[in-house]
Amino acid sequence: MKRDQNIKNDLIIRTLMGEAVERTPVWMMRQAGRYLPEYIALRNKYSFFERCQNPELACEITLQPVDIVGVDAAILFSDILVVPQAMGMEVQLIEKQGPLLPDPIKTAKDLERVRVADVNETLSYVFDAIKLIKQELNGRVPLIGFAGAPWTLLCYMVQGKGSKTFDEAKAFCYQQPELAHQLLQMITDTTIAYLKGQVAAGADTLQIFDSWGGLLSKQDFETYSLQYIRQIVAALKDEVPTIVFAKGAWGSLKEMADTGAHGLGIDWCIEPHMARQFAGAEITLQGNFDPAKLLSPIPVIEKEVTAMLKAFGPGRHIANLGHGILPNVPVDHAKAFVDTVKNFRHA
Ligand code: CP3
Repeated sequence: MKRDQNIKNDLIIRTLMGEAVERTPVWMMRQAGRYLPEYIALRNKYSFFERCQNPELACEITLQPVDIVGVDAAILFSDILVVPQAMGMEVQLIEKQGPLLPDPIKTAKDLERVRVADVNETLSYVFDAIKLIKQELNGRVPLIGFAGAPWTLLCYMVQGKGSKTFDEAKAFCYQQPELAHQLLQMITDTTIAYLKGQVAAGADTLQIFDSWGGLLSKQDFETYSLQYIRQIVAALKDEVPTIVFAKGAWGSLKEMADTGAHGLGIDWCIEPHMARQFAGAEITLQGNFDPAKLLSPIPVIEKEVTAMLKAFGPGRHIANLGHGILPNVPVDHAKAFVDTVKNFRHA
């Protein structure tokens, strides 16, 4: 296992490895984003993919929540959709609407347009950003690298845009399972090379985001998602600790723990003691504050975060939200979340 010995605050790494820690560590999914005025300032000057592709900008945005909110880890500023882009698809981000892939995959002919990416050719800007971030972090906190899970990426590559149900992506899987598995395997192969490149560039831990895992039945989650996540974790778990976050897929926590991942993300719809029961004692749990609760008055945030910390108990817990921070959260509310965790000690 690779470990950067120069990290001063390595609480997150130690928690993932099941080692003793003085307190629960904390970061927030989507912590580099629109609730920060410093992010909006850069957003007004550069397009989304310019911000991702320029290592100096990606580095600056990655460091913002570390400097401003005081989280215990940085997460690379990028997006899960840079992988479909690298595989040959056009990806746009439309203001107020979200991602748009104008030529989605529907047929065998469409599948000919995508390939397993040569990541050193197509995604080297990410590796350059990671190297720069590691330099600028100078050992303050660990850097989290990430990628989307193959199923969640298939959702966007087939549906072509965001959706509440991803019904077209599901129809593609259920009507043309062979094509679906070909695509999922190509995404998996690209993702393994991409994450290995992130580790080589300096990422200290990796998170796999399966934002739409909860849309599948338990059996279909195994078929269309987990068997590919398993390949990714197997390829990386001996390099750095890995965290799997499959939102809503709590019925498969046991199976996810069995992949050998070091951490599992959970959302706010499952209680910590139930998640622990399903996942077993030997894995770190991450979560699970309802992101909308950060819109409550600060005293309510403090009370509810304390209750969450008590519910998880000491050790093997990384405090986080159950999904990404909302753009309308006041910065001092995000700080209240982080500070409450940092000031809490288990009795
Ligand atoms: O967590 C971080 O701060 C690191 C950066 C990060 C972004 N996207 C930046 C971003 C990460 C880890 C992601 C992951 C991501 N991207 C996921 C998985 C996690 C999740 O939230 O479920 C998904 C599904 C995407 C796809 C995506 N990218 C969507 C649906 C959108 C538009 C909707 C939205 O939340 O704005 C994006 C754009 C995006 N990615 C923004 C940011 C900061 C907003 C861009 C902007 O308008 O400035």
